[in-house]
Amino acid sequence: KPVFVLNGPNLNLLGLREPAIYGTATLKDVAARCHAHAATLGLAVDFRQSNHEGELVSWVHEARDGACGIAINAGAYTHTSVALHDALKAADLPSVELHLSNVHKREAFRHHSFLAPAVTGVICGFGVESYVLALSALHSLVSANK
Ligand code: DQA
Repeated sequence: KPVFVLNGPNLNLLGLREPAIYGTATLKDVAARCHAHAATLGLAVDFRQSNHEGELVSWVHEARDGACGIAINAGAYTHTSVALHDALKAADLPSVELHLSNVHKREAFRHHSFLAPAVTGVICGFGVESYVLALSALHSLVSANK
């Protein structure tokens, strides 16, 4: 089974959107980086992006049976979505909340995460490396579960 790497709202604009905060790599570049790193770990990656909360919820449901772990950058839904919290709880899989930016250095409204209590762990602040670190963490968790 693959690892799902799920991306939330506005991440389709990565590379164009506030590059001083989020960098110049596009989401396509991030996907390529994830696939390359996953290959070194012997993991398969299913990389997706949606601007719609319900679609992200449905993907987390799909992961219950279809994935061995979840890495999720839920964007702004991190700070608002009880539905994603509940979906991640229900998925009951190794999971990582990740962010490109260090959300704790930023506006106060980014300091709270509804997802954090529902995932295994959180990685933020390392730019595209946050995705690489999340995949390495999931790889360790998934191997330990075998
Ligand atoms: C983000 C941080 C969120 O606060 C923000 O809403 C995003 C991107 C990040 O990757 O740094 O859309 O998740």
